[in-house]
This record gives sequence, structure tokens and C-alpha cells, in this order.
Amino acid sequence: MSQYIISPEGNLFGTVSISGSKNAALPILAAGLLSEGESVFSHIPELSDTACMGELLLCMGANYARHMDGTVTVSFPSGGRRKTAPLELVNKLRASFLIMGPLLARCGRVRLPLPGGCQIGARPIDLHLKGFSVMGAKIRQGHGYVEASCDRLKGGSIYLDFPSVGATENLILAATLAQGETIIENAAAEPEIADLAACLSKMGAEIEGAGSDTVHIYGKESLNPCHHAIIPDRIETGTFLALAAAGHGDVTLKNVCPAHSKPVLAKLEEMGFLLEVGEDMIHISPCERFRSVDIKTLPHPGFPTDMQSQFMALMSVAEGTGIVVETVFENRFMQVPELLRMGAKIKIDGRTAVVDGSKRLSGAKVTATDLRAGAALVIASLAAQGETVIDNIEHLERGYEHFPEKLRSIGVNIEKR
Ligand code: EPZ
Repeated sequence: MSQYIISPEGNLFGTVSISGSKNAALPILAAGLLSEGESVFSHIPELSDTACMGELLLCMGANYARHMDGTVTVSFPSGGRRKTAPLELVNKLRASFLIMGPLLARCGRVRLPLPGGCQIGARPIDLHLKGFSVMGAKIRQGHGYVEASCDRLKGGSIYLDFPSVGATENLILAATLAQGETIIENAAAEPEIADLAACLSKMGAEIEGAGSDTVHIYGKESLNPCHHAIIPDRIETGTFLALAAAGHGDVTLKNVCPAHSKPVLAKLEEMGFLLEVGEDMIHISPCERFRSVDIKTLPHPGFPTDMQSQFMALMSVAEGTGIVVETVFENRFMQVPELLRMGAKIKIDGRTAVVDGSKRLSGAKVTATDLRAGAALVIASLAAQGETVIDNIEHLERGYEHFPEKLRSIGVNIEKR
């Protein structure tokens, strides 16, 4: 397992360019299965997660390639294709389950290993399967696999018990080729859903309301390939803002979409940070003494759960005490034991954490348990005295493209071993 060794060296300064969104890229790569012809996607970040999705598409008989110009192409010619995805790939990438919708719509039958849970929670797929059933699919489960089959999906009315991002995406993907109209109520409204719908519309799909809590999809006989540039990564944007904040940085982020980061920008301003927001840039100024805040994670447009760990690290070195409530996942405080090793003062009670920012942190040997918990440790290391060694940084490199290089570009003294 590789490590990051980080030694804080003065205030951060510089400019960093934010990559395309991991969580937009994954469903959009799956959308490539919906057309015979070759779609061209740009700004797909080069990550182990996107590479894993590409490998999975190839396994299922699609064409997938990353090109020298940074674009990624996907096509899915009809004819011979596998019906069952390999277990090791689905276990590596939970989002691989997003191929179920397109394959069910295109092939009429698909069998996938049940995606495992992960560090942050059980991650069930009941809402995905309930939606496919409403659309006429026959669902069979057994031996760790789930199979869905249906000659042709029919539009239907689906009410999601929880505004699940993945279920909303999977059902939109399937509904684009169903017969008739599908309505998804209590749908997720994350920006990545609207980006998926924008891409599908370029392929000829007819979708209304994506990005709101009610989505209408009018099914078509077939879709065409398209060219689509995916949105910037709002979680990488928030992560680098929190990094700059902890490192008393004077930092500019380029290639961002500020409108997607409103909940995070509002919290940083509440803490006392001065932000300058342009069309595709955000500048944060150093703030010697910043206040703590209260955070409650909620589906978009609430505060994103994917920024909870990073803000907890920042709150650990803020003035005063803040409360963190994690309402989306049942086990997303994995960063706490590691932050405690660095001297943070955090008390957990169920899904609530009380963060006392009064103590200075000290560098320590810590372990990344999941993607965003790992990011929290990098943030904490910038406000700690002495060297921090972070183990298992493979978690981080799943979701942050060229991470060490970007950190060095704003003055972080980081070595990868
Ligand atoms: C997506 O995961 C993101 N991943 C996650 O980002 C993100 O944290 C999450 O949405 C919430 O915003 C990708 O987009 C690839 P959900 P997803 O379905 O779709 C429950 C990161 O760090 N649920 O919205 O799996 C579930 O248990 C990752 O980039 C059901 O009960 O999230 C959870 O409590 C982590 N039944 C809640 O909904 C279902 O069928 C939210 O899950 C599906 C979900």
C-alpha cells in the first residue's frame, strides 16, 4: 500500500485546475451502452474508478478507449455480448451497478453480482430493483447475484423512498428506451443527474425535470451516439477549498462550476473565509482565525455528504465547537479515530459528532479508510505540527486525479512512497 508523507511548510499559494466530475463520469460512461455508435466523452478524469468502469464495459462486450487527446469513447454494437459481469470488477466499484439500467434496456436481460457494501455503509440497491420492477422487469436474486429480464421495459410511475443518486441515474438510463413515459418522484437532484440527462438528451432521449425531485422520461426506440463534456467535480472543488482553508492558503481554483458548490461556499463564508467567485473560478483568501460551524448532510441542495469528512477536519482546527450530523450514510465517521490520533477533540454519538477546535493538531501516522476520509487526513495534516504519514492512499487516488501534483502546485510539501 502506498503512502503520502506531508510536512506543512508555510501558507499555501497558487492555482489549481479542477478535473471532471467522477460522479458524473461513471453514469455517463454507462450511458455509452445505450447506443450502437461511438460516443465521445471529454473531461473524464483518469482515476482507478473510471478505469474500472471502462474495464467493465469491455467485459460486457462494449468498445471503450481512452485517447491521447484526453477523450474517452464508448460504443455498444448489438450482437454477442456477455450477460454477466465479473465479480472482482463489481466488488472494486460499487457504481458498476449503473450498467444494469442500460443493459436491461438494450439487451433485455442482465445478471450482475450484488454490489458489496463499503466502509461508509451497507449501500443496498432495493430502490434500483423496485424501479426496474415497476417498469416490468422480472428480478431474480440468488448466490450473490441479481438478474433482471424483460423483453421491453414499459414506462411507469416510480416513487423513491429516498432520493437515491444511483437509483435515479439507473432508472433514467433504463427509461430512455422503455415504451411510454416513466415518472420518477422523490428523485435525487444532484448536479450529476442533470449532467447525465444533458448527455442523454444529446443522444436523442426525451427527459424533463432532471435536477429536480420529479423526472419525466419519454422512451425512444433507440438512441444515437453523442459528444459530451462532463461537468467539473464539485467535491474536488470543495476538497481543495477546505485544503486551502486549513493551510491558510491564498488559492485560486480554475475550471469549476460555483453554482454546484453553493452549500460548501456558504459554510466557508460562515466560518469567516473571504471568497471571490467568478464564472468558472473561485478564489479563497487566508483567514488566520476562522470560526467553527454546524454541518448537517442532506441530499442536494443540502450540504453534501461527500464533503462531511473534509469539513470535520477543518472544524478540528477552527475556533469553537461545531456539530456534524451525517444523515445520508450510517457509517461515515471513519475519519474520526484517525483525526483523534492527530490530537483532534471529537465526540461521536450515533450519527452526530461534536468537534472541539481548541487544540492544535500534531502530525502522526494515520490510515485512509475511504476516499473522503483520506481527504480529511490530508486537510488535517496541513494544520498539524510536524510530519503526517497517510497509509492506504489508493483510496484517495480513486477519486482525485493527479492529486499529489495538484497539491504541490499550491505549495504542499508532499511525497508519495
Ligand atoms: C452516490 O452514491 C455517490 N457515488 C456517492 O459518492 C455519494 O456519497 C452518494 O451518491 C450520495 O450523494 C457516485 O455517484 C458514484 P445513494 P450512491 O444511492 O448512488 C440509500 C464519493 O465519495 N439507498 O444516493 O450509492 C443508501 O444506503 C461517493 O464520491 C437505499 O436505501 O448513493 C444511502 O444511505 C461515496 N437503497 C442513501 O440511500 C437503494 O437502493 C444514499 O445512497 C439505494 C440507496
